[in-house]
Amino acid sequence: MAKILLTLFALALILGQTNAVIQCGTDVIPKVTSCGGFILGDDAKPSQACCVGLQDLAKIAAASQPDRKDICLCFKAAMQGSKVNYTKAKQLPDLCHFTPFMPMVPNPDCSK
Ligand SMILES: *[C@@H]1O[C@H](CO)[C@@H](O)[C@H](O)[C@H]1NC(C)=O
Repeated sequence: MAKILLTLFALALILGQTNAVIQCGTDVIPKVTSCGGFILGDDAKPSQACCVGLQDLAKIAAASQPDRKDICLCFKAAMQGSKVNYTKAKQLPDLCHFTPFMPMVPNPDCSK
């Protein structure tokens, strides 16, 4: 009996994980590395590649709440480790024409 319960539990964990398919290191970060010149550096505006990457993420985030949460947590962790200029980060949805999928603030609430 205990063994069956354990199997069910493991299965639930595996199924739970497939809910959100987006991976921070492989799906999110590579899309936004080209935004560094703008939000971390002196670039006056974000690059085309940066905007395309953010638009992709905004679409994924709009389609799935678990993915939106994962993208938010990924950004939160990445931004906490770097010197992001939040004045510029906040302008990204306007400059790149995408629907904001998270607040561009130092400690965003990703549970929504
Ligand atoms: C952030 O960017 C704005 C606009 O480019 C600039 O005026 C400001 O000095 C920057 N802040 C920091 C902390 O670098």
